[in-house]
Amino acid sequence: MNRISATRLATALFDTTFSARPVVLASAPGRVNLLGEHTDYNGGPVLPVALERRTAVAGSHAEDWIVASTLDGKVRGIDLDAPLKKDWTGYLVGVARELRKLGAAPSGAHVTVATTLPIGAGLASSAALTVAAAKTLSLLAGRRLPPAQLAEVAYRAEHDQVGVRCGRMDQTVAALGERGTALLFETGSGTIQRVPFSGRLWVVETGMSHKLTGGALNERRRECEEALALCRKWRPGLACLAALAPADLPEVELRLPAPLVSRVRHVVTETARTRAAAAALGEGDLAGVGKLLVEGHESLRVDYQSTTPEADDIVTAAVARGAYGARLTGAGWGGAVVVLAPPEREARLVAEVGRDFRDRYGRVPEIWSTRASSGVRRESVPV
Ligand code: GLA
Repeated sequence: MNRISATRLATALFDTTFSARPVVLASAPGRVNLLGEHTDYNGGPVLPVALERRTAVAGSHAEDWIVASTLDGKVRGIDLDAPLKKDWTGYLVGVARELRKLGAAPSGAHVTVATTLPIGAGLASSAALTVAAAKTLSLLAGRRLPPAQLAEVAYRAEHDQVGVRCGRMDQTVAALGERGTALLFETGSGTIQRVPFSGRLWVVETGMSHKLTGGALNERRRECEEALALCRKWRPGLACLAALAPADLPEVELRLPAPLVSRVRHVVTETARTRAAAAALGEGDLAGVGKLLVEGHESLRVDYQSTTPEADDIVTAAVARGAYGARLTGAGWGGAVVVLAPPEREARLVAEVGRDFRDRYGRVPEIWSTRASSGVRRESVPV
């Protein structure tokens, strides 16, 4: 875990870049999703937790737009109306454009960004950036948008502007996460229930970075849309794939081509698992949650085909070493595994998992822990 906070890093970078202190500073967390993978764009539930690791965005008023980040160390001018660059500035410009539509963007700004999140590790670093940027830029424009609106601005920036066909999970937890709770977010109805969870989660990075922009996520989403269209031929009015019951699966198997059946099976079983996991978590039944995590991983591996051999091996090792459960978290195709372990065994267990991975792949994976943390917030500028 990085000792220096993202807010300190962003402020220090602001000082060296602009020889000034920022006027506004805000930060937002990444997330680890306990269960509910690829359900958020299918109308199903998700169960994410906000991470302690965050992204901070510092800003002050200016006539032009100049941005800098610890991500690439470059200082550059940006033009909100030029085609988006395929790097982190695309997300920032996306946010500024969406805020402009609401009359909530400054006319120019000097901005620095810093993060303690790994990038491309499936931990929603893009949502942490867009939600924190939405907060800082809207405050610079003199507007105090509620967290749900910041989440919507961030979602539109990523989905409509950058063009990643994501759901709303990441932005929602980055905006509305709360310390000591997981968020049961029913994306179909928009309802949010907070499930107390004061325990620790471990994150094991596979070291395989995924790139979401234009990638496999868009392809899976297209498959889900195709599957929904086919299901509506026999179930007119079906709102979303997550509205199918497990009892509908035999009918799906008869009517849809095999690859689409697998995608639907994942969404339907994952929907049931997520609600069951929220209930188990609420009762403090961590062993029950762990079992659901492992089943969820298996469903991603076999039916959604979004796992990688590295992630499969980490899950197998964690369970063999005594974890309650483990699962690839986030979009997949690389990324990180979340491990839930009995507190008295966790330190030893993750060390063993790290060794197992090193023996197999010849490198030591990044492993760190987190507790459920809070969503976006304005920060005071450190002295
Ligand atoms: C990415 C997307 C989310 C969600 C997950 C998969 O993180 O941004 O909206 O679809 O993948 O569960």
